[in-house]
Amino acid sequence: MAPKVLLTQLLPPDSQKLIESAKDVELVCWDKTGAIPREKFLEMAKGVDGIICMLTEKIDSELLNAAGPNLKVVSTVSVGYDHVDLNELRKRSILLGHTPGVLTDAVADITVLLVLAAARRIREGIRAVESGKWTWSQTWMLGVQFTNKTVGIVGLGRIGSATALRLKPFIGDNGKIIYFGRVEKPIASSLGATKVEFDTLIRESDVICICCELNEETKELFNYEVFKKMKSNVILVNTARGGIIRQDDLCRALSEGMLGSVGLDVMTPEPLNSNDPLLKFDRVIVIPHIGSATLETRTLMANLAIENVLSGVRGETLPHGVKMKSN
Ligand code: GLV
Ligand code: GLV
Repeated sequence: MAPKVLLTQLLPPDSQKLIESAKDVELVCWDKTGAIPREKFLEMAKGVDGIICMLTEKIDSELLNAAGPNLKVVSTVSVGYDHVDLNELRKRSILLGHTPGVLTDAVADITVLLVLAAARRIREGIRAVESGKWTWSQTWMLGVQFTNKTVGIVGLGRIGSATALRLKPFIGDNGKIIYFGRVEKPIASSLGATKVEFDTLIRESDVICICCELNEETKELFNYEVFKKMKSNVILVNTARGGIIRQDDLCRALSEGMLGSVGLDVMTPEPLNSNDPLLKFDRVIVIPHIGSATLETRTLMANLAIENVLSGVRGETLPHGVKMKSN
């Protein structure tokens, strides 16, 4: 019997054709718009050999039990895999594939977009135009100039370094790039970036970009105590995962007048409720987790996820497998 692959959402057209042309697998798809409801996911996963999922699908023991013993590979169409319980996969010797590399440029682009938009108060400006509040005062809508400023990158991985590279021309030769992370990154020297302690980064940066993965060490790394130490006009941008910021603390800090402006592509929960307190601040720009949302990037991500799942069900090594560290 051909191995069965569950696809939890239709892929961009070229990728969809690619997976449908794989003749040695039986494909089942959730073909409705939007994320697959949990109940459907549990039901459709039954007996499958491979799953292509999105970051909206929690892969936990309940799902893996529902899928049953045939499941060999989970392939997420995302670089991040904090929605996947690695321990549960490891226990069952199930492989995990993800999509690093191909979304680096798109996410770095959107990080820069948020930095610029936050620094120059774009949301407030658009709102002023739309509500007839445009005035010509010299000191109205003053934003932050980048020249000579310090950019702090949390997580100088692929996305972090691509972001640093893009921001370098904005700060100029007298600007500084600093970064925080677990290890020294060889790429840092070519970027002119210096590794610093976390405390130094949050105190000295004019612009902070969160580009690290969400894990036990980075969960709520940004909380009230941290916001208190930041420059009063700091620009804080998160394009990684919402859970890295303790969001209640962010709202509290903002309502107490801390922080300059904030740009978020990721938050808790996603989608954010339209009446969330975060949205009442003019100086917070929230966009709907669209870091990788270009046709080119989404197609490359989907193609990589397809390669991962097909390799997994065929018993081959995944082109982009997540290393399953043992505890
Ligand atoms: C997007 O957030 C991803 O992890 O790919
Ligand atoms: C993710 O792709 C990263 O390494 O930043």
